[in-house]
Amino acid sequence: MSTTFVPPTTPLPVRQPRTLPIEVRVASPRRQLPEGELGFGRVFAEHMFSMEWTPDGWRDAKVQPYGPLSLDPAAAVLHYGQELFEGFKAYRGHDGVVRTYRLSRHCRRLAEGAARLCMPAPDPDFFEEAVRTLLRVDRDWVPSAPGTSLYVRPTLIACEPFLGVRPAEKYLFFIISSPVGAYYAEGLNPVRIWVEKKQVRAPRNGLGAVKAGANYAAGLQAAYAAKQRGYAQVLWLDANEHKYLEEVGTMNVFVRIDDELVTPPLEGSILAGVTRDSVLALAREWGLKVSERAISIDEVQAAHARGALREMFGSGTAAVISPIGELGFGDTQLAINGGRIGEWSQRFYDELTGIQYGRRPDPFGWTRALD
Ligand code: COI
Repeated sequence: MSTTFVPPTTPLPVRQPRTLPIEVRVASPRRQLPEGELGFGRVFAEHMFSMEWTPDGWRDAKVQPYGPLSLDPAAAVLHYGQELFEGFKAYRGHDGVVRTYRLSRHCRRLAEGAARLCMPAPDPDFFEEAVRTLLRVDRDWVPSAPGTSLYVRPTLIACEPFLGVRPAEKYLFFIISSPVGAYYAEGLNPVRIWVEKKQVRAPRNGLGAVKAGANYAAGLQAAYAAKQRGYAQVLWLDANEHKYLEEVGTMNVFVRIDDELVTPPLEGSILAGVTRDSVLALAREWGLKVSERAISIDEVQAAHARGALREMFGSGTAAVISPIGELGFGDTQLAINGGRIGEWSQRFYDELTGIQYGRRPDPFGWTRALD
């Protein structure tokens, strides 16, 4: 388990100007949802960005009122799932400033992922400018209640009407956004996680390393079954041996054994999470012992048996840090840290959200204020 995953380059001709003019058509304002009622991803801000791709390149970049897409029923995305998305947030601080968090990294990740799905990627700098243009128009949709933010969802889809199986020759890239509260009803409270030993999220060198909708579809059935058993999500194990930890639900996973922080390495089945990378950077900065290495479920159980499994958590944009309070395996349950939030989980959460909301210094330059 030691090769580095390098996405193949796209075979598509990518003739794209770095920038395009962005036409802005503003809607008349609608009522906003009271911030106290925000869940996750149910309400959408007033505008969306979109642009189209044909073999001549990208065109028709615009910000316009949010609304339904007009898609041919034969569009390739509807049949073969040629789709990729991103997810990141804009945060309003106490100072009223709206900040993006590691936006350029998300823009680059979409470009890298597009190659794996044979899709043309928007230029990352232009992508970033498109996000900023949209955010400036919908600035008032960035909520200010504690723990809320504006979740931004860029999506790239194949829309050529053609039923043959090959990379499409027509694409739509759009960006919508949604004011959100907590992703899990539990918030930062520890969740119960089912160890999934049958189904897998993604095999090595499949789509698992890229943010393709297909990965999330693959996870639905096991997550649903776990919910029926009273668990919030599943712990995914590797597709070959059903032994090594991969991800937890839709998040990267971290385990603290004694004073070592362990997370599985990126070897072609796990998404290179931006929050994962942030946790690793902070842990190294704080001088913690950090290992990106394979970790088996047997090792986790053995560590628990000798009292060394100190904490476990998921990391992702939506929930930031989600502590795991219990692992369930059929008849056996392992309580982690007495079902309480671990010391490091809390520290990462406080530091990351402190940076995101502008309450703490940002030594890595991860945030950028919206002008
Ligand atoms: C995240 O943790 O940010 C995710 O990937 C969840 C998202 C698909 C809703």
